[in-house]
Amino acid sequence: MKPSVDQDLCIGCGVCPSVAPSMFDMNDDGKAYAIVDEVPAGEEDLAQEAVESCPVAAITVE
Ligand code: F3S
Repeated sequence: MKPSVDQDLCIGCGVCPSVAPSMFDMNDDGKAYAIVDEVPAGEEDLAQEAVESCPVAAITVE
């Protein structure tokens, strides 16, 4: 599964790198981005938690 952040939707709230630091970080524009191409093994629930935590639904995991 590949995590990704829609840069147009992200408002830079910072929740996703807090919830799932193994998958997301903030870039210089203050937006989140996925730091991995694949959700790490065993962290599928964490990825889903990040998806549900984003206030603007900018995160997808497919
Ligand atoms: Fe942005 Fe949503 Fe993460 S607003 S910082 S993608 S929780």
